[in-house]
Formats: sequence, structure tokens, C-alpha cells
Amino acid sequence: MTDFVKIGNVKIRKTAVLAPMAGVADRAYRLMCRESGASYCVSEMVSAKGICYSDRKTAELCTITPDERPMGIQLFGSEPNFMAKAVKIVLHYEPDIIDINMGCPVPKVVGTGAGSALMKDAELAAEITESAVKAAGNVPVTVKIRSGWNSENINAVEFSQRLESAGAAAVTVHGRTRDQFYSGTADIDIIKEVKNAVKIPVIGSGDVTDLDSCNNMYEKTGCDLVMIGRGSYGNPFVFQQIDADFSGKEYTPPSVEMRMQTMLKHIRLIIKISGKSEELAMHEARKHAAWYMNGFYGSAKFRGRCYQLSSYAEAEKLAEEFIQLQLSRIHK
Ligand SMILES: Cc1cc2nc3c(=O)[nH]c(=O)nc-3n(C[C@H](O)[C@H](O)[C@H](O)COP(=O)(O)O)c2cc1C
Repeated sequence: MTDFVKIGNVKIRKTAVLAPMAGVADRAYRLMCRESGASYCVSEMVSAKGICYSDRKTAELCTITPDERPMGIQLFGSEPNFMAKAVKIVLHYEPDIIDINMGCPVPKVVGTGAGSALMKDAELAAEITESAVKAAGNVPVTVKIRSGWNSENINAVEFSQRLESAGAAAVTVHGRTRDQFYSGTADIDIIKEVKNAVKIPVIGSGDVTDLDSCNNMYEKTGCDLVMIGRGSYGNPFVFQQIDADFSGKEYTPPSVEMRMQTMLKHIRLIIKISGKSEELAMHEARKHAAWYMNGFYGSAKFRGRCYQLSSYAEAEKLAEEFIQLQLSRIHK
């Protein structure tokens, strides 16, 4: 039997959760991962100021379908008043949780004082959190951070304590500094230190790719939930593996046929959800298709062909060829 973790009043199965990933973890991706066993997911990040001025993309980014719940909507911003207004706006989409991004390293976000830039100003970060908490009412507000701004300023522990006293209901820690972006390996000791320093649930993020690394994150840090980002690229099966183990069920890794069926299902979802022409939707599907073929014999060539796909029928044909190639290797 799996345990549950409570964030505010939201119950989340203690298995693995899907990381917010702008440009990757859109609704189709989230649905694929949830169906595979991810126990919680978060929207792509949404600009707090952006949604106060224009609602052009708000509905697309913030709409939550029943199969995605529990789900959080993630906001980024550097001004407490805009954050409060944005929270009120996104409440219309009835998020289970509102998450504030204080970890994004990209210059476009950091340059506005948002994302990981807030790790340099704990007081402002706390003010933003407080105003979001006040605006959110019963909806829990969580914050996602990094270990610090750079190796000279590792402050996740004090920073998390400050966020906790500002009313944050949980904190997610990605064990890299802003300066590291996504390079090197994540430092999981800092996640343990945060866990020991706060009473709110802590979600551990960084380099989890399978059951072993998930168990390692739980065991070494004592964290309440483990988050998986890049390890789920073309691999929603990672959630199945973890879910099966945690619920004492047998897990069979997917055959190459199953993998291709899952890829095609993912592509169908992208086409259905995007509301665009099949050709345009296929542009979005290309990188996902390529990820499903990663690590297999001949995959470099196939990945190149994925980036040329412009119809579903072509994807089906490519999947069949891929299966035949893998089978011919086995039966050689
Ligand atoms: C393409 C990409 C987009 C991301 N977008 C977001 C985002 O919108 N909000 C956020 O808090 N973190 C974002 N992250 C960071 C991830 O949520 C996660 O913390 C990080 O990738 C480390 O975990 P991993 O090693 O499991 O990928 C993003 C990461 C990637 C690779």
C-alpha cells in the first residue's frame, strides 16, 4: 500500500511526481505521465504579470482536465502585487495547488528579477509568497527553488525556512545552483538539509531517472515526494515502474512494440489537444517522437527522421520500421 503526503489539504500518493517543464510538459505530456502513474503534476510556468495584462495564453496554460488532478499551476514573477492579482485570476481554473517558480535560470526570466533571481533576495521572495498565500485562500501555495544562486551562495536551507514562515505549504528543491543551469550532477545533500530544517513537505528534484534513483532520493534525503523531469522524456514508463514497485505490483518493461504504441498515442493526443492542423501539431510532436527512440540501436538516424515528420501516417510508418529494425537485431 502506498502512503500519501498532504500538501495543505491536497492528498498526493507518495510515489513520483512529474516536474514542471516549460515547452515539454504540456497537457498531452502530463496526461501520458499521469496515466502511467505520476501522482501529481504542475503546469508549465506562467508569467504573473503577463496574465494580468493579457489573457491570450492563460486558458491554454491554466486549464486543468480531470485526469490531470491533483495539479498545480505555476506562476513566476517578481512583484508581490502582480503575484496576488495573478493568483486571483488563476483561481478561476480551480488549481489544487499554486506553485511559485523561484528556480528558473533562464536570462529572460532572471533578468526581470523572477525565477532563481529571487534566491538573492529572501525578503522579496517571502513577500511574494505571503501575498500569494493571502490571495489563494484555501488553495495551498508551494515554492520551487534551487540550492542557491551560485556555489558561493548556497542558501536553500535559510531560504526555505523563510518561505515556510511566509506561509508556503511545501517547497521543491532542485539540487543545482542557478549558475549550473542543468549541468553537473544535482546535490542531494542540500535537499536533506532542507528537509531537516523545515516542517512543511519537501519535494526532491534532480537527476531521478528510474526506480533506483527515486529510491535513492527518498532514502538519502528523507524527502516527502520525488519529482522527475528529464528522466520522463519519451519515458512515461518510469512512473509505471515506480508506481508498480511502491504498490507491490509486478512491472514488465515495455517491449519495443509497446514503446512505439505509446509514442503514437502521445502523438494522437498532441494532435487532438493542440487544436492546430495536423502538420503544425506534428512540429510539436517531433521531439517527443525522437525521445521515445532514444538509446536503441540505430536511434540517431531515426531521431533525425523524427524531426522531418509532418503527418501522423508518417509517424506510424516510422514506428513500424523502428520495430522491424529492433526485432531484426534480436533475431539475428
Ligand atoms: C526543458 C525544461 C523546462 C523546465 N521548465 C521548468 C518550469 O517551467 N518550472 C520549473 O519550476 N522548473 C522547470 N524546469 C526544471 C525541472 O522542473 C527540474 O527541476 C529540473 O529539470 C531537474 O530535474 P530533472 O533532473 O529530473 O530534470 C525545467 C527543466 C527543463 C529540462
